[in-house]
Amino acid sequence: MALLTILEYPDPRLRTRAEPVTVFDEALGRQIDDMFETMYAAPGIGLAATQVDYHRRLIVIDVSEDKAQKHVFVNPEILARSGSAVTEEGCLSVPGIFDEVQRASQVRVRARDRHGIEFEQDLEGILAVCLQHEMDHLEGKLFVDYLSDLKRERIRKKLDKDRKARAASTPAPLPARVPAL
Ligand code: NI
Repeated sequence: MALLTILEYPDPRLRTRAEPVTVFDEALGRQIDDMFETMYAAPGIGLAATQVDYHRRLIVIDVSEDKAQKHVFVNPEILARSGSAVTEEGCLSVPGIFDEVQRASQVRVRARDRHGIEFEQDLEGILAVCLQHEMDHLEGKLFVDYLSDLKRERIRKKLDKDRKARAASTPAPLPARVPAL
């Protein structure tokens, strides 16, 4: 397995719309395993293929404490959504930034697993929020797009400053609040 590089906002590659997965082979399995390893190492609770510059409709999620509930969604489609919840979200591609986003609190999703087998699942709570956040990535959308232009500009500047500080090897501390998605 290998750790993949996570693209960071405002990298234009994060704006790519992902294509459906059509081949369910060993290479796809390796990509899924590498994405889990990358997500756990970050650490995060969700990762979309777009974030690692792999532009196929593929998402991995594990919101459990003990890395024991791996969810893989290939070519996911939301069939139904209900309720509404405001959650403070973070994103591995927008490190150290957290803000409130409103999304459906329950979703029914249809997707394929790593072997291409189709399934449907009802998700709620953090899992539902996480799936919607990751599906946005596949459309080239980031959670900061839900915020005001002013906030987004501040975030862009802060990340730029953090990156420069990292390059000058003065590590910028990241607030550890909610897990990043
Ligand atoms: Ni994200």
